[in-house]
Amino acid sequence: MIPPAAVDALLAREQRHYIARHPRSAALAAEARRHWPGGVPLHWMADWGTPFPLTVAEASGATLVDIDGHEITDLCLGDTGAMFGHSPPAVAAAIAAQASRGLTCMLPDARVAAVGERLARRFGLPFWQLAQTASDANRAVLRWARALTGRPKVLVFHGCYHGLVEETMVRLRGGRTVPREGAVGSAFDHASAAVAVEFNDVGALEAALADGGIAAVIAEPVMTNCGMVLSASGFDAALRMLTRRYGALLVIDETHTISSGPGGYTGEHGLEPDLWVCGKAIAGGLPCAAWGMSAEVAARREAWLAQRDAASAHGHSGMGTTLAGNALAIAALEAALGHLHTDATHAAMRAGALRLEQTLSAVFSARGLDWHVSRVGARVEFGFGPAPRNGSEAEAQDRPRLGEALRLWLINRGLLMTPFHQMLLAAPTLAPSAAGALGAAVAGFLDEVSA
Ligand SMILES: Cc1ncc(COP(=O)(O)O)c(C=O)c1O
Repeated sequence: MIPPAAVDALLAREQRHYIARHPRSAALAAEARRHWPGGVPLHWMADWGTPFPLTVAEASGATLVDIDGHEITDLCLGDTGAMFGHSPPAVAAAIAAQASRGLTCMLPDARVAAVGERLARRFGLPFWQLAQTASDANRAVLRWARALTGRPKVLVFHGCYHGLVEETMVRLRGGRTVPREGAVGSAFDHASAAVAVEFNDVGALEAALADGGIAAVIAEPVMTNCGMVLSASGFDAALRMLTRRYGALLVIDETHTISSGPGGYTGEHGLEPDLWVCGKAIAGGLPCAAWGMSAEVAARREAWLAQRDAASAHGHSGMGTTLAGNALAIAALEAALGHLHTDATHAAMRAGALRLEQTLSAVFSARGLDWHVSRVGARVEFGFGPAPRNGSEAEAQDRPRLGEALRLWLINRGLLMTPFHQMLLAAPTLAPSAAGALGAAVAGFLDEVSA
């Protein structure tokens, strides 16, 4: 048991250390606060637990250099956007080549046929659309799920996160679905549009589906936003079987689990989603998301559109976002599909992540800690207790202050772990020595905090 007072004392020391090490970041943060709340253009950039945001000078591969000249091994990688490393050379070259040839025309680029073919081959679904972000893509697929089924609700798993998607912002509290804490300015009661059940609970899943009214189940195949919750044996098959039985569409959100392998978790485990979503790293870090449809969903969508158009002529195909599928995104996506979503790249990432997993497991077990380390391909997560089986168990072992202290300790020693929880990603170029450095730093933290 690590005493909270020791964590607080260490945190105070590490904050002083951070302040002393980062004078230029401090000055820039002060200046930026004049026009950016918290000194940042995206509020999450101020959520790292550092006394002020760390300003990045440049990033390449698995390394960041901050404005004060410190080299940092990046194990967060933009929380997956840069999973393949910062500025992967093939993507950077494709962006540079397209940059002076038109950024966005709201017309297809000559490469779309080839890119569609690659998406279909790589991820196993025949029809595709692009969006700018995974949030946009998830909003689109859930709208289609409601349109195609004529049902009002989505089913999510307690502890989920699917982006800025109102109807997924719910939690299960005392057996009831309620709006999740922290949502700002909701337009409607989220619990009126969603049902939450625990992950890995086949009985609860079936009961909710049998109740009717569920248009789609949207799921990460491994939960990655409340710590990491792996699917129990048989759960994937039950999820597919029950969604089919009760006529709900199955949406697999691979925005994070794309770390599993070149075809995502879906490819690795032979899942059969009706709709499939991935953003963040899909185009190597340039804003882009893709959503795929099965042949059956695509046919139902065509029929739905034909019926709507027969009923009234309104001159356009529906709502969208103007920049989706722009030429720059297509260029980056083509390069990413050719060079990043490959066996070789994933093998390198998996090897790096395995080293991180094994090193951390050894550090924890040497100290008699029951902390778990889980991994899905290139993605590693550890938590302050045994491996959780659902969102509630993950929530119960969360220790935000301990996580914050460890994160800051690591930053001060040149290692970047994700904010909010303890996630580490291995970029393909991550040096093998990074695992040893991480292990030594975490061991040092544990020694210090339990001294
Ligand atoms: C599983 C999952 N889906 C969707 C999103 C939303 O991604 P974005 O913020 O790029 O829209 C996230 C973000 O973390 C996510 O983890």
